[in-house]
Amino acid sequence: MMLVSPAFGGDVAAPTLREAAGHRLLIGTALSAANLDDPALTQLVATQFDCLTATNAMKPMHLQAVHGTFTFEAADRLVAFAHAHDMQMIGHTLCWHQQSPAWLFKDERGRPLPREVALANLKEHIQAVVKHFAGKVKGWDVVNEALSESPGPDLRDTPARRAIGDDYVVKAFEYAHEADPNVELYYNDFNIEQSFKRERTLRLIQQIRAAGLPVNGIGIQGHWLLDSPDVSEIEAGVRAFADAGLNVSITELDIDPCPRRHGTAGADLDAQEQSGMDPYKQGLPDEVQHQLAARYAELFAMLLKYPQVKRVTFWGATDGDSWLNNWPVRGRTNHPMLWDRQCQPKPAFDAVLRALQSKSVAGADLGK
Ligand code: G3I
Repeated sequence: MMLVSPAFGGDVAAPTLREAAGHRLLIGTALSAANLDDPALTQLVATQFDCLTATNAMKPMHLQAVHGTFTFEAADRLVAFAHAHDMQMIGHTLCWHQQSPAWLFKDERGRPLPREVALANLKEHIQAVVKHFAGKVKGWDVVNEALSESPGPDLRDTPARRAIGDDYVVKAFEYAHEADPNVELYYNDFNIEQSFKRERTLRLIQQIRAAGLPVNGIGIQGHWLLDSPDVSEIEAGVRAFADAGLNVSITELDIDPCPRRHGTAGADLDAQEQSGMDPYKQGLPDEVQHQLAARYAELFAMLLKYPQVKRVTFWGATDGDSWLNNWPVRGRTNHPMLWDRQCQPKPAFDAVLRALQSKSVAGADLGK
């Protein structure tokens, strides 16, 4: 038997996440432009969420696949949808090693471009994009996933780093700030809340600040598992970033109940599994459904203790539109979100709603 939530199910007066969050923090989700053609999903999103991130449409590959030719249509549609429903838009992302056109940092033979050429390309891309969306997005994930998870240098070995050098992150912040001094600038990555990556993150933030540039917030992606990392470990990360004077957002939240061969949280796209398990094709058993709800409840109870936590964005809304149906195992039936494939709320929805309701009155109005 599957559990059914009593809190939503077509009742127009049912409380929503954004109402329950009140002024305490923003609750967000992510959509692709194709999702805009799904009326049930868009109705749910417009009702439940304060802010929107583009799953793919604002990444360099989608905005400037061909050097000098900008394609803003899909991203503009998402911005128009967000604003039509009184939602704020979050920009994701100006610089990332995935979904980035080769010409940005490599020559025709795949070799790193000379530093000055790569810097000019990066500047041109960032400034055109930031100016296009000026006044329309609240803030940008300026650089995404720059940090390595391996021993050795702090920065991941990427085309940008090979062409420009270690200061490419600082340069990206400089170009974004110059293009729009009013837009918020974030650094966004996965697993940075965990001790093995936390110090690296703080060192990187320090470098950006040392160059006189603002870092308005840190984005902890939040691609977590049912049993890992422990909420106390996530809390230690939130506290460390808050103590460093950073606003904190959870920017891509989902909790994966399916088994992973490597058993660790995160979102390293290279960790794709061949023939991984697909145990919940027929639905999530009640016991796991309860574990998922309890994990979300524990997580929100912790996050809501920190006034520095300004936003929690889920990476998608329903189980059907989650990227976890295709990673790390392609084509499996996953159940990480608050709503099921029919857009019906799961026990995890009730858990998050209750956590928000119990904290939003006590929490200060922080001018979200
Ligand atoms: O658009 C093509 C489509 O034409 C084709 O038929 C299909 C076949 O597989 O692929 C489609 O492209 C896919 C694209 O998503 C749009 O659905 C790509 O293969 C797929 O790799 C891509 O995945 C995205 C992933 O980033 C890769 O960059 C996910 O949707 C997106 O959710 C994910 O988001 C990232 C964040 O940006 C950063 N943090 C991790 C997070 C999860 O990986």
